[in-house]
Amino acid sequence: MNTVKKPIRKAVFPVAGLGTRFLPATKAVPKEMLTVVDRPVLQHVVDEARAAGIEHFIFVTGRNKGVIEDHFDKQFELESTLAARGKKKEIEALARDLPQAGQTSFTRQQSPLGLGHAVWCARELVGNEPFALLLPDMLHHGQTSCLADMIEAYSKTGGNLIAVAPVPEDQTHQYGIVGVKDVKAKVSEITNMVEKPQPGTAPSNLHITGRYVLQPEVFALLEKQERGAGGEIQLTDSMIAMMNDDKQPFHAVRFDGDIYDCGSKLGFLTANVALALEREDLADDFRRDLKRLIGTNA
Ligand code: UTP
Repeated sequence: MNTVKKPIRKAVFPVAGLGTRFLPATKAVPKEMLTVVDRPVLQHVVDEARAAGIEHFIFVTGRNKGVIEDHFDKQFELESTLAARGKKKEIEALARDLPQAGQTSFTRQQSPLGLGHAVWCARELVGNEPFALLLPDMLHHGQTSCLADMIEAYSKTGGNLIAVAPVPEDQTHQYGIVGVKDVKAKVSEITNMVEKPQPGTAPSNLHITGRYVLQPEVFALLEKQERGAGGEIQLTDSMIAMMNDDKQPFHAVRFDGDIYDCGSKLGFLTANVALALEREDLADDFRRDLKRLIGTNA
């Protein structure tokens, strides 16, 4: 068991999935690049990681995902055109979002064998240190960055952490669920984990939301992990082995903000509406248009 708390400097973003629920949009455009208002959903999640102090961003990409690498690079032609047109604000905004040179790494998952396999593909880039893992299609939106809350909790607990949030009891069978010592606490020790429990058997109603802090020992387990649910290499199976066999500590950190599953059409549309309604430059006109639409079609 790790007693020394090494800092969390690196974050992994698995972006190699096929995004079949968004076809045909995802034929040529990665689903992580679909926009919530005017930022790609992946940019929102990178923003969250930056706000938590992450220094290195590791993207596990796949075929047809080259545009992700371009997005996190400097665009000289664009910037010189903006400069020629006197668009100072736009240039400054692009500069704010740009990671520093050397802060990003990209590796490829050659076949989409599942989330666990995608994470394993990052092993050489992560090395022997704990790391954050953020699922880019799960948009966490609240007062604070979810990952920042987790890193603060990590400074006390060490070990591994998983962000959780409550779901209605009759939906637990659709999620990875954790059992905890204290269901009401912000941070609580995890007692068990189960991927998509049979209805009525879930250890709690706290589901795994797609943010993790993991110790590097997970890579050795992922390497020998057999395919699980859906014929995919499942991260949850390796975390269960880490907890039960290797006796690694796991804590749940409850996220109290809103979570939008932007990998589903409904979650994606809702995220766009919610975030647009918070934008000073859009909210009033957008609310008026929404009212008109709902009034006409209800
Ligand atoms: P999802 O299962 O939601 O993504 O994985 P998907 O497979 O692209 O979606 P659908 O069901 O076909 O629409 C969650 C995250 O893990 C990544 C995805 O890119 C997504 O960001 N992932 C998933 C990988 O990187 N590799 C995989 O093999 C599977």
